[in-house]
Amino acid sequence: MKYTYPVTRTTNPKPHPQDETNLGFGQYFTDHMFLMDYDEGQGWHDGRIVPYAPLSIDPASCVLHYAQMMFEGMKAYRRPDGRLQLFRPDMNAKRMARTADRMAMPVLPQDILISAVEELIDVDKDWMPKAPDTSMYIRPFIFGNEVSFSAMAAKHYTFCIIIAPTGAYYASNTGKLGTSRIYVQDEYIRAAQGGTGFAKVGGNYGGAMRATEVAKQFNCKDVLWLDARDHKYVEEIGTSNAFFRIGDEVITAPLETGTILPGVTRDSVINLLKRWGVKVSERRLSIDELLAAAKDGSLKEIFASGTAAVISAIGCLNVKGEDYPVADGEAGEIAQKLYNELYGMQTGKVEDYMGWTYPLDIVVD
Ligand code: COI
Repeated sequence: MKYTYPVTRTTNPKPHPQDETNLGFGQYFTDHMFLMDYDEGQGWHDGRIVPYAPLSIDPASCVLHYAQMMFEGMKAYRRPDGRLQLFRPDMNAKRMARTADRMAMPVLPQDILISAVEELIDVDKDWMPKAPDTSMYIRPFIFGNEVSFSAMAAKHYTFCIIIAPTGAYYASNTGKLGTSRIYVQDEYIRAAQGGTGFAKVGGNYGGAMRATEVAKQFNCKDVLWLDARDHKYVEEIGTSNAFFRIGDEVITAPLETGTILPGVTRDSVINLLKRWGVKVSERRLSIDELLAAAKDGSLKEIFASGTAAVISAIGCLNVKGEDYPVADGEAGEIAQKLYNELYGMQTGKVEDYMGWTYPLDIVVD
């Protein structure tokens, strides 16, 4: 079912970014945002599109103290014919439902999410960027918004969507993928079994920032996380899922531990690789096996996948100051092919033979 929402248009539109080749990630936001409330007993109500503006929030609001919140990351893409489209938005809605369950928050129905996203993009469609490697990043988020110091699930929630014309999350991917250096983090952990690693919550990211700072000291862009119990098995790379190609096998951490974010791009990568006949395993991979493969030359590729990052290749691992180059340090052929195919499908330049794209009723110049 498709919903429509009342729109209050801004009387004070902002200037659009001048240089679309330098949008960064989440630096510019459009003129409007979507808001909706939830109250116990009443459910979700009063969805509306309003001028983008700071939220007024009580300093005692529970989210500021106990972080009962969740967010999602999605993108709208421009097809060559000017029609805009989303990519597997049902997966975002399903993940929101799983996150809501873990965080004792109300589930937001998929139809509300997709209708709200479509309406907001329509209102701000003149902000849709055109330059290569750009898209409209969509950030839905929900937070407990109740004045209370009791560390209990809130009874009132605010749902908000903001959208941002963005460029590549990492260095520009135009044409050939670049590579990054990644620090193997064996002290801090991202997620423990029974924790919130599989859920998309701010705390997972806030708790990771010290480790990212450490990585920078080793001239690395981000970290390779190891598991919390044994500090032995590879899990994610920074804010993305991680893939390792050793010989002819592509390996990624399994979801069963509950410590891995079930990424939309992760699932798409696994499905494309299977379709292409590449052996892909969701299994635990120890850092010892990985470093041995780097040394004996059987480690062919490492890449990360995510909505923001799409596919980003890793050229070198660093372990306590020691470099372990990944093959010749350049992006591998599978990473490059995945990037071309996925970004091609998302932007309508490659035929969507997987049925993943979700065309909107919005066409831009
Ligand atoms: C995304 O890939 O959309 C994410 O949410 C990760 C974010 C921290 C950039």
